[in-house]
Parts: sequence; structure tokens; C-alpha cells
Amino acid sequence: MVHADASAFPSGITKREAYAQLLEQARSFFEGQRNWVWYNLPIFPSFPLTLIPSFHPTRAHSELTTEPARSNLANAASLLWHMYASLPAPSSAVNWAGFYLILGPFHGRPACTTIPFTRGVCGAAASTRTTQLVPDVERFPGHVACDGATRSEVVVPILKAGTCVAVLDVDCAVAAGFDGVDVEGLEGLARVLGEGCDF
Ligand code: SME
Repeated sequence: MVHADASAFPSGITKREAYAQLLEQARSFFEGQRNWVWYNLPIFPSFPLTLIPSFHPTRAHSELTTEPARSNLANAASLLWHMYASLPAPSSAVNWAGFYLILGPFHGRPACTTIPFTRGVCGAAASTRTTQLVPDVERFPGHVACDGATRSEVVVPILKAGTCVAVLDVDCAVAAGFDGVDVEGLEGLARVLGEGCDF
């Protein structure tokens, strides 16, 4: 059962403890819920469902219409946002957390809608299927500057059977805002999402 209190991260905990809480909450949110985004037949009756990657043609129509209106990526973005806000600097300076390569659920300022595999930190993570830890975005060739305040960034690919299905992108308004603990925690979340959602 998803509850807003899940995003309450106690003050004074370490970043490693915060990521552990985030993963525990994410796992419990995703239990029995494999949608990576939300869709609702009654609102978009003519929408071609086969274009939605999470649509499974063998599911009963009734199951689709009664599924809860929530989405795993949206709740993951919310958890990340509240976790960073609860941590000391530099984590508290996180100014964007969300999903690409087509803009997905996120928290932060409005951002570019698509990023090709050939561009930016997100493109590099997707095309190499490896985490990109960028302490200074101005030194990253081809960095896509959606928010001019961003100084550092970490992007983790979400893999499904070896294929990159999305990337998890977190930006920080100070340089060197992320370290190995962030990489470990975000890669853990990416694994949970890759395994726990029908992309
Ligand atoms: N900086 C990213 C683009 C996404 S925004 O930062 C939200 C990149 O270079 O891929």
C-alpha cells in the first residue's frame, strides 16, 4: 500500500541508510504493481494500447481498468526527491530526479522531452549501458543543459534482459554532488525497477 509517509526520511541518517530506506520503500511500492507508467482506458478510450510498452495483450480488459492509478517510476521519482531533500549538502542540492530517454516521471523543473542515444549524459548511459558519474557537467562533451543550475549529474541505465529500457537521471546544483554511495544506491534502484516493471 502506497502511503505519503513513505517519503518521510528521518533527519540525521547517513546517505547509505537513506538509500536502504528508499530501496525498501520502492520494493514495497512495486509489490503487485508492474506498471512503469499509468494509463486509464476510460479517459483515453481510443488510445492505441499496443503502443504502451507495459500493455500486455493477454490481460483482461477488466484488469486494466481496475488497476490502481499509480506508476512505479512516478513513485520512485518522488522517493528520490524527498530522500535528497532530507540529506545534508551536497545531496540537499539535488535539483532534478527522474527518468528518460523520452521524458518520464520526474521532480524538478520542466525538462527537454527527448534525448537521443547519441547525446548528453543520458545518451551516454543508454548507449554504453553503464552508469555515468559526472562531477562537472561543463566538462562533459555534449551535455544537454535542461536546467542551467545543474553542475553535476549521475545517470544510471535501467536494463531489461540486457537492453536499456530507460535511464534514471539525477542532477545536482553543486559540482561533485554524487559519489560511490549514490552510484551504488541508484544502481540498486535501477535493478529493482528493471526487475519490478513491465517495460
Ligand atoms: N543533462 C542531461 C539531460 C537531462 S536534464 O539534465 C534533466 C543529459 O545531458 O543527458
